[in-house]
Amino acid sequence: MAFIQFPKEMKWGAATASYQIEGAVNEGGRGLSIWDTFSKTPGKVYNGDNGDVACDSYHRYEEDVEIMQDLGINMYRFSVAWPRIFPNGIGEVNQEGLDYYHRLVDRLLEAGIEPLCTLYHWDLPQVLQEQGGWDNRETIEAFVHYAKTMFKEFDGKITKWITFNEPWCVSYLSNFLGAHAPGYTDLQLATNVAHHLHVAHGKTVIAFRELGTQGEIGYAPNVEWNEPYSDKQEDKDACARANAFFIEWFFDPVFKGSYPTFLVDWFKEKGVTVPIQEGDMDIIHQPIDFVGINYYTGSVGRYKKDEGLFDHERVDTGYQKTDIGWNVYPEGFYNVLRYLTKRYGAFPIYITENGSCYNDDVENGKVNDQGRIDYLKQHLTSLHRAMQSGVNIKGYLTWSLLDNFEWAEGYKMRFGIVHVNYRTLERTKKESYYWYQHMLENNFFEV
Ligand code: FCB
Repeated sequence: MAFIQFPKEMKWGAATASYQIEGAVNEGGRGLSIWDTFSKTPGKVYNGDNGDVACDSYHRYEEDVEIMQDLGINMYRFSVAWPRIFPNGIGEVNQEGLDYYHRLVDRLLEAGIEPLCTLYHWDLPQVLQEQGGWDNRETIEAFVHYAKTMFKEFDGKITKWITFNEPWCVSYLSNFLGAHAPGYTDLQLATNVAHHLHVAHGKTVIAFRELGTQGEIGYAPNVEWNEPYSDKQEDKDACARANAFFIEWFFDPVFKGSYPTFLVDWFKEKGVTVPIQEGDMDIIHQPIDFVGINYYTGSVGRYKKDEGLFDHERVDTGYQKTDIGWNVYPEGFYNVLRYLTKRYGAFPIYITENGSCYNDDVENGKVNDQGRIDYLKQHLTSLHRAMQSGVNIKGYLTWSLLDNFEWAEGYKMRFGIVHVNYRTLERTKKESYYWYQHMLENNFFEV
């Protein structure tokens, strides 16, 4: 038996996102987002589910903050729905939208919970999509304007900000793989989007500093880890490309002011270029205060000619899978954190998402989600190991506080440590909730 103990000053929390939990899509003057449109397009989301009601947190936020308080977390990551603030993307600000987030943040602060606010967790105003969305550089200006409005409005109240959640998903998953809104399958378009997100991120950081906003700003890329199946150079190269698609492609521009040449060349061979305009790379290359890392899974991979984008195929080596089919791969968590620290230095990291999908239901008032407890233990053990080796971890936020609208998977896939009955909206604390609560009380657990 061993004790896994964390530093006292480490922050602990849970995360959610606006469209996944708020509901009330037609209330408070909110405009439409691309997820309203996408989820109502037949065939895009499992079972035709949508976020109209979700967890109804727009109305039940007080109950949710009470749950957080009982859980014992001291940080909560939520996102702001851009179309609640600017129903038309830009133009007139919607006071009712600002008021909602004031109510939420005030309750959090009263409860002693630090708000960590994500500005963009995927709900682009539909009006902007109709003008080209992230393919159109004017969306960058609209985003910066929205961000500045938020910085001024919440200065001193919210002191931790994230520009973008998972820019890889916003660009490639949504515009090349077509799985998320707006659902296109065009590699050049996806690459334009990725670059424009970077520019929007950089401009937002510049605006944050110019305004003298109190607090810290970062972004939250999602990372995966691909371990080579063999020592063969071609397997190692294929995995390096697959990793770089998540890591270097989204970190190098911010940390080094350039795109990794080998991937630029790889894309060029496919006829795809990055639409860099003069000055862009300097704008993107802004010092940031922390990075949010979202990690769920990884796999073993090898070279296979013409497989996917990178001549890389995943090999099923028998890892356990969560109910969404993702490998439970805690060593990938350690490896990726080590890799990032080696490549970019020991920059401050918040784990802004880490969690698992287990669809256990309520039985006799209880939800026995042992799979999630095991996942948490394994990943926190890897995290601890990474910290011991010098990775600069400031906090850990599990995904998610509540079961919620899991994007293209609708309500089928549950990631919460609190169960939500989507008919009655009743919240039931799962066994993993009690495990996390106990761990937070003691600041250690046994393995
Ligand atoms: C991440 C998303 C988050 C949630 C988890 C399971 O990619 O950021 O909203 O859906 O996956």
